[in-house]
Amino acid sequence: MDITLAITGASGAIYARRTLALLAASGRVETINLIVSSTAEVVARVELNADIKNAGTAKINAWLGLDAGSKLIRVWRLDNFAAKPSSGSYKQAGMIIVPCSMGTLGAIASGAGTNLIHRAADVCLKERRKLVLVPRETPYNAIHLENMLRLSHAGARILPASPSFYHKPATIDELVDHVCYRILDQFDIPHSDASAWTGEEVQQ
Ligand SMILES: Cc1cc2nc3c(=O)[nH]c(=O)nc-3n(C[C@H](O)[C@H](O)[C@H](O)COP(=O)(O)O)c2cc1C
Repeated sequence: MDITLAITGASGAIYARRTLALLAASGRVETINLIVSSTAEVVARVELNADIKNAGTAKINAWLGLDAGSKLIRVWRLDNFAAKPSSGSYKQAGMIIVPCSMGTLGAIASGAGTNLIHRAADVCLKERRKLVLVPRETPYNAIHLENMLRLSHAGARILPASPSFYHKPATIDELVDHVCYRILDQFDIPHSDASAWTGEEVQQ
């Protein structure tokens, strides 16, 4: 399958890096169309010391530890409205925005997008393709909540970056993976999830 992944300027760049790595390792994805907002580049630097400014495929492959020659990830510029994910006639499984800022959420909810991330998300909604949004803000104000409800009514899946603790995560990576596995689940992409709830008896 082809899929689009966008990274925006909310906290949680690590979720984006890990989701990309899991998609790449899944063997189920032919092309990942990657779009990175300019604030996402700043957050990646602040949180991960990563330089993904104006990154092309080579830089992104290095960031993810993929082979230098890998063609799996195709990077599109934020202002390129002629990019493949901008068109409904481009057949793809859907789109993930991880992490999703309140700014991007609002732009999509209003239908008045101004960049390729907003446009690609809008296309997924109109074509009834999967659109998975991973919002990150706290606390939410009423506008954030109304935007999420509006998008949910329009067909988006709101998957907040809210890791669980029942699998007893011992590291940040284990916390992060739990959220990323839930993202992959939305597309039925297999992963080695040791954190899925097993339904065991719990002492009440
Ligand atoms: C270090 C840093 C952390 C941020 N964290 C958040 C956040 O968690 N959630 C959010 O909605 N915005 C956050 N912002 C603000 C957004 O980046 C800002 O609203 C930006 O305009 C979003 O643009 P984008 O959606 O095009 O990336 C953060 C900004 C910076 C620099």
